[in-house]
Amino acid sequence: MRLSMVGTGYVGLVTGTCLSNAGNDVVCLDIDLAKVEKLRNGISPIYEPGLDELLHHNIKAGRLSFTTDALAAHSNSDIIFICVGTPTDSRGHTDMTYIDSAADGIAEALLKLGPTAKPKVVVVKSTVPVGTTFRVRDRIRAKVGPDIAFDVADNPEFLKEGAAIEDFNKPDRVVVGVENERVGQLMRDLYDPFVRNGHPIYIMDVLSAEMVKYASNAMLACKISFINEMANLCEAYGADVGKVREGMCADRRIGNQFFYPGVGYGGSCFPKDTLACIMMGESRDVPTPVNRAVHELNQDQRTRFFAKVTSHFGGSLAGKTLAFWGIAFKAKTDDIREAPAISLMKMAKAAGASVRAFDPVANSNARIELGAGFDVVDEMYEAAKGADGLVVATDWDEFKAPNFERLSALMRGKVIFDGRNLYSRSLMAQHGFAHYSVGRAPVNGPS
Ligand SMILES: NC(=O)c1ccc[n+]([C@@H]2O[C@H](COP(=O)([O-])OP(=O)(O)OC[C@H]3O[C@@H](n4cnc5c(N)ncnc54)[C@H](O)[C@@H]3O)[C@@H](O)[C@H]2O)c1
Repeated sequence: MRLSMVGTGYVGLVTGTCLSNAGNDVVCLDIDLAKVEKLRNGISPIYEPGLDELLHHNIKAGRLSFTTDALAAHSNSDIIFICVGTPTDSRGHTDMTYIDSAADGIAEALLKLGPTAKPKVVVVKSTVPVGTTFRVRDRIRAKVGPDIAFDVADNPEFLKEGAAIEDFNKPDRVVVGVENERVGQLMRDLYDPFVRNGHPIYIMDVLSAEMVKYASNAMLACKISFINEMANLCEAYGADVGKVREGMCADRRIGNQFFYPGVGYGGSCFPKDTLACIMMGESRDVPTPVNRAVHELNQDQRTRFFAKVTSHFGGSLAGKTLAFWGIAFKAKTDDIREAPAISLMKMAKAAGASVRAFDPVANSNARIELGAGFDVVDEMYEAAKGADGLVVATDWDEFKAPNFERLSALMRGKVIFDGRNLYSRSLMAQHGFAHYSVGRAPVNGPS
């Protein structure tokens, strides 16, 4: 098929690249010229394992190209995917600017192509408040008039940054919301090569498809806040959340996936999607106390963890240097949006500490976000040099079994604040570190 993607971020670029790799002709459109120029030269503007190789392969094969020109992108396409950002403000109002401008760009292209052009299907892939696909349909219709035929559909994306290629190529499920069976069949044909493993394609109504995405993310966020709440109770009562988790997860109804205590979730999806659920509830007078609690607990988890840092140093961080391992909101991505590490670093700085941080791939994004007041270095042990304490904020593999002797020799203070529960208490005791984690008693800390 001939496809165009509006927006070449984490979703648009991965989706476009994987769809082209399956043999489709894909044109990716973005308003960011610098990004498009990089992509034309085969350079990915984001870090995603496996993406560079696929990008090169499909550009070379002539199936994948990049443009800033909406007409050029859409003129031959059968399906146009909208993959632009849908950020929320701090209360959960979704900023529809990018969705609206994508719809306007499509409408202008459809008008220029005229009523004789082959009808297109405009598919909303961004995560959007329920009803947005119809908003897009009505906005385009208002601009193109009654004579130009097009359809709309919603096709939420479930990929995880860090495993996006694998997730897209072998999805647990594909969800598509349509207004008629013809579009349902077209989308089935598009996704059939990706579900040879027998995983389902669910064709449903548009509003339910939009809701599936929010409900799924809200549930996942809920799991994290729930285990964090249990971890906090474990701390208060002397239980070990690692053992509690094991005991719980043996029950298959609970399962062991996506259920780890720590400094809370971050990223561009869970925080905003939980807030958007709250806002959708407010708009229709439906209480959403679960989502509110999930969100509040997640924010508090950062503050709670930071309190362990300040209390170890007797309530003041003035004159202290803190090393941070990990800046990205999770491992295997360079995405720092809503990253717990960023909040913790800002809290440390505001409390008078100097911050020296390292991330395997997010350093450049972090330098832009944090500015000159933060020292972002290119090597993990360099970050620890002369530090009074080390905060582990992201569970990158390379932080899981570091050289503790080297660390100990480099650091001024021997304390690790382990926000991802990477290290066992016995190992920390053996190496003589004070160690604070989540839901477990501290090692060599105040009793
Ligand atoms: N990042 C994820 O892991 C993930 C997973 C599933 C769903 N989603 C959803 O997918 C959507 C996109 O997320 P993302 O992380 O890829 O966003 P992103 O911010 O990484 O990328 C958005 C891109 O759209 C471009 N853009 C904005 N307006 C445009 C326009 N009018 N025309 C062309 N390009 C335009 C921007 O320049 C940017 O490159 C969001 O709704 C998000 O919630 C994200």
